[in-house]
Amino acid sequence: MDRLVIRGGKRIEGSVQICGAKNAALPQIAASLLSSEPLELRNVPEVTDVNTMLSLMRELGVVATHGAGRSLVLDAGGARNAQAPYELVRRMRASILVLAPMLARFGSARVSLPGGCAIGARPIDQHLKALESLGANVEMEGGYIHAWTNGNGLRGNRIVLSSPSVGATETALMAAVLACGESEILNGARDPEISDLARCLVAMGALIQGVGTHRILVQGVDALHGARHELITDRIEAGTYAVAAAITGGHLEILGAHLEHLGSVVAVLESAGVQIWPTDRGLMVVRSGTLKSVDVSTEPYPGFPTDLQAQFMALMAIASGASVIRETVFESRFMHVPELGRLGANISLQGSTALVRGVERLHGAEVMATDLRASVSLVLAALVAEGETTVNRVYHLDRGYESLDRKLVQCGADIRRVVG
Ligand code: UD1
Repeated sequence: MDRLVIRGGKRIEGSVQICGAKNAALPQIAASLLSSEPLELRNVPEVTDVNTMLSLMRELGVVATHGAGRSLVLDAGGARNAQAPYELVRRMRASILVLAPMLARFGSARVSLPGGCAIGARPIDQHLKALESLGANVEMEGGYIHAWTNGNGLRGNRIVLSSPSVGATETALMAAVLACGESEILNGARDPEISDLARCLVAMGALIQGVGTHRILVQGVDALHGARHELITDRIEAGTYAVAAAITGGHLEILGAHLEHLGSVVAVLESAGVQIWPTDRGLMVVRSGTLKSVDVSTEPYPGFPTDLQAQFMALMAIASGASVIRETVFESRFMHVPELGRLGANISLQGSTALVRGVERLHGAEVMATDLRASVSLVLAALVAEGETTVNRVYHLDRGYESLDRKLVQCGADIRRVVG
């Protein structure tokens, strides 16, 4: 298992290029199943989660071909109604995103239940409720979800989600585009990755209105056709590099980042004493003064993203004063807390709330990566820790960050990957 050896104390400076968004890529790869004609996606990031999704697509008979410019052509012309096996689904929960397109295109689908997850229970009830609202039958059999339609396929209807789940909104959208008649999706999530999925579906011939709002209207069509679509850039990757610049007192241009995708993150970072402004090519992030403590609550978009909570906690670990960080999206998403403690952070946990008392300095130590965002928070903390930090199990990082260590080294960090 690879590990990263990081020597802290270097400023993050210069510029860094942000990749296409992993969380836009995964649903859009699944969406290729909706058509028998090829879908070409551009700006697809080279991360393990994308490879896992592609393994699943191949299992379902989709031919995936990589081309120039990080393009990926997905040809589901020969796709078959195979089941999505436990072996692949357990590796990545987003595999559940193949359920709706398989059901919409073939009239039935069998997908393994995703099982437990390191960041809370993460049920899929809202996905199933959305499909049932469109007339699907759903049963659990031997650890598999079996969904099927009676004769005439899915029927347009009102889908009311009880919480704005990102995945369930995507499931609802992908099912509704091929349902007969009109569907209304209420209380869905409004994340930029969902709007990007909708743009991709529209390019394939879908009829969708109200994207980015709590009321999405879909007029079902008989079939979707081939299309070409470029993914939006990864706002979580952009936010992570913003924290890297902020935590080291650096000065970084984040190429390809968009202010409007970051929602409340910009205001929170500004309150912490970080300056951020748009440039022709992305965003400039500078921190020259003292870091101030700021209280934050994670919320559905455009609130502060749960996917940046761990990184922000690393930043608050060295801010002056005390910060209260509340996690409201996922239960028990605090696995980074004890590991940040090993680096000298002073954090106490009570339920879904962390109290972070800023310390003057962190110290290098050996730490363990536990999930994608938890592990990157350890890398960020290590950038300012005195001495050497070893981050073990970095395969978690590779799931969602393309070349994180190489990019940080290009911006001045002292990081070595030990392959093993
Ligand atoms: C997506 C992102 C993930 C991000 C999360 C929240 C992808 C591939 N992953 O995950 O990086 O952290 O959004 O922004 O896009 N829930 C239910 N029932 C359901 C579905 C979800 O109760 O049927 C709950 C979950 O347990 C969780 C909350 O809703 O507490 C949010 O989950 P959701 O928005 O669905 O996250 P994902 O789509 O899995």
